[in-house]
Amino acid sequence: MKDFIVIDDLSNEEIEHLFQIADDMAGIIDSGNPKIARDKIMATLFYEPSTRTRFSFESAMLRLGGNVLGFAEPKTTSVSKGETLADTARVMTEYADIIVIRHPMAGAAKVMADFAHIPVINGGDDSHQHPTQTLYDLYTIQKHLGTIKGLKVGLCGDLKFGRTVHSLAYALARFDAMMVGIAPAGLEMPNYVVQKLKLKYKQGFEYVDNLEDVIGDLDVLYMTRIQKERLPQNIDYNSVSGKFVINKELMSKAKKQMMILHPLPRVDEIAYEIDDDDRAFYFRQSAYGVRVRMAITALLLGLLKMPNTVRTQPSPRLVTVKKRCVNPRCITTQEVYIEPKFELVSDLMLNCAYCEELPVDGEQ
Ligand code: NCD
Repeated sequence: MKDFIVIDDLSNEEIEHLFQIADDMAGIIDSGNPKIARDKIMATLFYEPSTRTRFSFESAMLRLGGNVLGFAEPKTTSVSKGETLADTARVMTEYADIIVIRHPMAGAAKVMADFAHIPVINGGDDSHQHPTQTLYDLYTIQKHLGTIKGLKVGLCGDLKFGRTVHSLAYALARFDAMMVGIAPAGLEMPNYVVQKLKLKYKQGFEYVDNLEDVIGDLDVLYMTRIQKERLPQNIDYNSVSGKFVINKELMSKAKKQMMILHPLPRVDEIAYEIDDDDRAFYFRQSAYGVRVRMAITALLLGLLKMPNTVRTQPSPRLVTVKKRCVNPRCITTQEVYIEPKFELVSDLMLNCAYCEELPVDGEQ
């Protein structure tokens, strides 16, 4: 495995092994000075705003004894002169040993990985996926509830434009958790995610109208904010925000062990009055991001290895067909040198290998 672009790049066994490494990293953080990444450089290329992802990756690399360079504002780089991702990738290959990229177009991290000769990690690509967030979402659940299998997980908020819930939904399905959606009208899970859950993982995706209807049954409630910056013009932010808010009154109906998770930043979907509740895990969750990102960084740099006994994830089955991606936010629509590719998800399903959207027939 060279890159980590989508959650399916890691098998369940690899994820479980990575969690053990993350536990070891916690020990390394406490004891101070690991230096296993001495002389290695991480480039953090953030074409979109971030607090946690960039700083926790940089913190992870510094705690591993490595160095970091990068940008948080692409306007200060040659991107503003029209440089392509492919050219940036080729150049960064000579300047760093590993790249973390966040980008406002879906599939951009895959393009970077295709052209860079060093490992690339997806730090979030538009509404597509955020696989390292998923790793520490799962790590937090596993650590505090002991298992993921058989849990009932509520996914609440913007399930359409939020990328964290997409990679998380696939992972939860793979680890045999049950899911229920709670979303404002128009912000339900995209069809391509629901289809993939159904055809690849044999899991349906159902909704309830209100948090009250389901809160007593949940083991985990995963809250998300409305992705205001990604809403299309026909969806008014005020008509979809503030619909689902978790507060003390609702928490009185929840199980004693129910965990509340949130990738953060929160806006108004979690009342501050429950921050002191033992079931509010979101700040512990974001703290775990550092050890989990240390683990994935060390693995991709080849500083640590998966044992040979750990089963690896099969590669996606790619095909070239006369189809085109319909997603205007797919990187293939912007960077014209990219040859469209499609992935055979199941015998009945083909999706864009960059953004996962279902394609339509047509000449490229
Ligand atoms: C998330 C993201 O960027 O997708 N933030 C994060 O990385 N923790 C969630 C969000 O912005 O809503």
